[in-house]
Amino acid sequence: MKANLSDYINKYKEIIQTEYNQHIQELDIPEQLKKSMLYSLDAGGKRLRPVLLIASYEGYGKNNVDKVLSSAIALEMIHTYSLIHDDLPAMDDDDYRRGMPTNHKVFDEATAILAGDALLTYSFELIANDPLLNDKEKVNIIQMLASCSGPKGMVGGQILDMEAEDKPVSLEEMEQIHALKTGELLKFAIHTGAYLGEATNEQLLHLKEFSHYLGLIFQVQDDILDVTGEQEKLGKPVGSDTGNMKSTYPKLLGIDGAIKQKEIYVEKAKQALAGAGAADSNLRALTDYFSNRDH
Ligand code: IPE
Ligand code: IPE
Ligand code: MG
Ligand code: MG
Ligand code: MG
Repeated sequence: MKANLSDYINKYKEIIQTEYNQHIQELDIPEQLKKSMLYSLDAGGKRLRPVLLIASYEGYGKNNVDKVLSSAIALEMIHTYSLIHDDLPAMDDDDYRRGMPTNHKVFDEATAILAGDALLTYSFELIANDPLLNDKEKVNIIQMLASCSGPKGMVGGQILDMEAEDKPVSLEEMEQIHALKTGELLKFAIHTGAYLGEATNEQLLHLKEFSHYLGLIFQVQDDILDVTGEQEKLGKPVGSDTGNMKSTYPKLLGIDGAIKQKEIYVEKAKQALAGAGAADSNLRALTDYFSNRDH
C-alpha cells in the first residue's frame, strides 16, 4: 500500500472509531446488547466502507467531513451487522472474525442476532437525528441505505449466495451474487459521498458503474484470499468457502482465471471513474488497494 493511502485510511479509521463509540456508549440500552454491539464493532475491521464514503465526498472538492460522518458510521454499523449474521451457524458458521471469536461464540446466538438487528435499525436513527443534514438529504440517504442494504441489495445477495451453495453457477450469476451481497454497500458509500459532495447526476451515473466493478473486485479478492490468504492476516478462517461448498470465482475460473477476471474489472472501474471526473481522487488508489489487499 502507498504510504499516503495508508496514512489516509488510518486517519479516518481513528475518527470513525471515536465517533461510533461516542454514539453507542451514550445509549441508554440493555447492557448485554450494548456489549455485544460494541464487541463486533471494536473487534477491528479495516473500515474501508466509511473511508470510501469520505474519499468519494472529498473527490468532489469538499472538506467538511463532519457532514458525512453519520452516513459513514451508519454504513459501518450495517456492514458489521451483516458480518455478525453472516457468521451464524445457520449461515456460514464461522468461528473467527476480525481476529476474534465470532459474536455468537462469545455471546449466545440470540444475543448475536439481536446485536445485528440493533446495529441495523440504530443506523437509520443516527442519520435521521443528524443536525448537520437537512430533511431532503436525510430522506435521500435513508432511502439509498435501505435500498442498498435490504432485499434489493445486500440481503438479496446473501440469499442468492446461500442458494448457490453446492451447485454450478455461470459467471453472470456469480457477478449478480457479488454485486448484490458486496457491491451494494460499496455503492452506498460512493453514491452518498458524491451526493453530499454535490456531484452532478451524470457523474453519479458513472459512479454507479464504478461501484459495480469495485464491488466485484472486492469480493473476487475476498474469494481469492479464502484460498490463498493467511488466517492471522485476515482475522477470519481460510477455506470457509470450500467447506461450505460456496460458489466463488476461484471455484468457477481457478485462481489464475479469477485474478485475470479481477484485472478486467479493475480496468473497467478506472474507466468509469475517469467518466465521473474523479480519476485523481483517492478512489483510484483505493481501487488498486481493494484489488491487491492481503487482508
Ligand atoms: C468482509 O468485508 C465481507 C465482505 C463483503 C467480503 P471486509 O473485508 O471489509 O471486512 P472488515 O470490515 O475489514 O472486517
Ligand atoms: C459476505 O460474504 C458478504 C456479506 C454481506 C456479509 P462472505 O461470506 O464471503 O464474507 P466473509 O468471507 O465471511 O467475510
Ligand atoms: Mg457469506
Ligand atoms: Mg462469510
Ligand atoms: Mg468470503
